[in-house]
Amino acid sequence: MKVAAGLAPLLAPNTIAVVGASRRKGTIGHQILENLISYGFAGAVFPVNPHARSICAVRAYPSIADVPDPVDMAVIVVPKEQVLDIAEQCGRAHVKGLVVISAGFREIGDEGAARETKLMEIVRTHGMRMIGPNCMGVVNADPAVSMNATFATAMPPFGHSAFVSQSGALGLSVLDYAQEYGIGISQFVSVGNKPDVSVNDLLVAWEIDPTIKVILMYVENFGNPRRFLEIASRITKVKPIIVVKSGRSHAGALAASSHTGALAVDDVAVDAMLTQAGVLRASSVEELFEMAIGFGARAMPRSRRTAVLTNAGGPGILAADALVMYGLQLAEIEATTIASLRPLFPAEASIRNPLDMIASATPAGYKAALTALLADPGVDAVMPIFVPPFGVRQEDVAEAIASAAATQPTKPVFAVLMGREGLPLGRAEFRKAGIPAYIFPESAARALSAINRQVEWAARPAANPTPLDADRDAATAILDGAMRDGRESLTESESLALLRAYGIPVAESRYATRPEDLAAAGQALGYPLVMKLVSPDVSHKTDVGGVRLGITSEVQLHEEYHELIRNVRERAPGAKVNGVLIQQMVNGGRETIVGISRDPSFGSLVMFGLGGIFVEALQDVIFRMTPIDDAQAVEMIKGIQGARVLGGMRGAPPVDHSALAAAVRRIAQLGADFPQILELDVNPLLAMEHGAIAVDARVLLRARN
Ligand SMILES: Nc1ncnc2c1ncn2[C@@H]1O[C@H](COP(=O)(O)OP(=O)(O)OP(=O)(O)O)[C@@H](O)[C@H]1O
Ligand SMILES: [Mg+2]
Repeated sequence: MKVAAGLAPLLAPNTIAVVGASRRKGTIGHQILENLISYGFAGAVFPVNPHARSICAVRAYPSIADVPDPVDMAVIVVPKEQVLDIAEQCGRAHVKGLVVISAGFREIGDEGAARETKLMEIVRTHGMRMIGPNCMGVVNADPAVSMNATFATAMPPFGHSAFVSQSGALGLSVLDYAQEYGIGISQFVSVGNKPDVSVNDLLVAWEIDPTIKVILMYVENFGNPRRFLEIASRITKVKPIIVVKSGRSHAGALAASSHTGALAVDDVAVDAMLTQAGVLRASSVEELFEMAIGFGARAMPRSRRTAVLTNAGGPGILAADALVMYGLQLAEIEATTIASLRPLFPAEASIRNPLDMIASATPAGYKAALTALLADPGVDAVMPIFVPPFGVRQEDVAEAIASAAATQPTKPVFAVLMGREGLPLGRAEFRKAGIPAYIFPESAARALSAINRQVEWAARPAANPTPLDADRDAATAILDGAMRDGRESLTESESLALLRAYGIPVAESRYATRPEDLAAAGQALGYPLVMKLVSPDVSHKTDVGGVRLGITSEVQLHEEYHELIRNVRERAPGAKVNGVLIQQMVNGGRETIVGISRDPSFGSLVMFGLGGIFVEALQDVIFRMTPIDDAQAVEMIKGIQGARVLGGMRGAPPVDHSALAAAVRRIAQLGADFPQILELDVNPLLAMEHGAIAVDARVLLRARN
């Protein structure tokens, strides 16, 4: 067992003091001490209680200073008012780490927050590390430590998963669940309010611990998303991280005036980060455990090609539907396999995929069919399903499945046992054989999909968003100019110039403040042209009739100018009209949107989607944290629902994906390089058969401090 130095006193201590240990059964102070003793903590335990000589038959000490041995970890279980004093005493007694169970800190509001700040000062002053406050403790089930420093009554079996929970209560049910499902836990930490030891710190510790093969997390917020992205992206190339993140919906940035800002609401930043880090997101604790069970499989799949074996048609079809829904593939069964199995089953049986042996299937039938499917070169995983008919015992089928699986240890078998009798046995027996077992085919399919994604993610080269060449000075000058004027947005021309400075192709345009300038602009640019309102008061020009397309002559240019002005006077009477932008008309492109939105804690996010004026109606967008590399840009473009529209359909050729990806990456770089950009919309960025070109841009700036 290898533990990160800084956290060793908390994750693998040699000595533990329980300050606030109680003689009264049923109290937290008693339960924690009892747990440490009854689960055979490998080190020494010291109860601290000024009123007791001994507790649970262990000599007690009046204060931490009286404990004869150096103390690695002090578990503090006293009322909130006493915590600061106890922490100070621990510091003076050279305790290395604190686990503060007590509640009554930041989670209760200002008074608690003030107490927590003081507590952190004490911890820092004495160079201690602290888990909590307001947590339910720490478990290290490794036999070399065997520490249950929680008040949970369940101790999960030792295994290869580590679990961090930001909710104490949920932590308790997690340990129950893990025990019930036999999910082997190596370490469990309830981080509580986490002002000190954070989820990121634990990830770093678990990254280097060879006993930990899967990391499970329940989190409510990410204190430092950028650090999480960096650490998690590294770890997931080696070990899967599965997360349940609650709090998906909160009041979004409804005030946003850009499309990107309006779409960057709710949970998109979290989703972007988790996807970018290769973290598997579960939508419930149950789903998280299903995935964790899946990673207990004795082998990882070589591909998504999966076969279903069943003795009942319905569940077989449900399994096939679920597999396809979760992105897996129904394997093509080889003719030789079918031929070898046909004689073994009645004519009513269906020897294809799903392979339905019908209700008369015997354990021997399961063994033969599963062995054959596992031997089939076109099959990389099998899901055998058993629905107990009359007269066939589930345990016998479980044994048959296990022995068939043993014939081909390099392919995963995900078993589904839909019967109640013999369930725990079935699963425990399977777990030893490395065969994840579920009650429902959908759970098995979801888990199989997760491990496939993990395999594919681990095989992918790590992201490498090296900075791109760009005219940063020109960009800085444009942004600083507007900030100096105290403006909160760039003009259309400045926005287009900013894009040009970052190497993004932009439609040629000219700014005209008076009708007299129109002719010259037209001549310089050449027809056809587009005319657009330039006004600091109008965000979406189309809404006020401020965009005139398809202008083919000078006469029409003037007509459209007067039409445009009339429209604006009518629909936005108070709007200031600075002039119009004359722009080359670009034909034949597909409208996409690329944007930047800055999140206070996640930093700048880049967005890609199908664009145009209906972008908020379509909501077909995808986000990532900036910067990104080419592969990530292509993944975004391919990841939207409307990807097929860009791929060429209905006679339209595919768009230039590499030019589009280059533009997306460059806009992401812009967001990464300039924190003063609050929101940025390029809508549309026209994706052409050859190249990509921006025709409309809006940049909102962060207010000057
Ligand atoms: N140069 C151009 N070439 C071809 N079509 C153009 C051009 N400029 C604008 N358009 C078309 O006009 C539509 C509206 O123009 P533009 O995006 O500039 O205005 P907007 O209303 O301010 O946009 P937004 O919805 O982004 O606020 C574009 O979605 C596009 O279909
Ligand atoms: Mg637009």
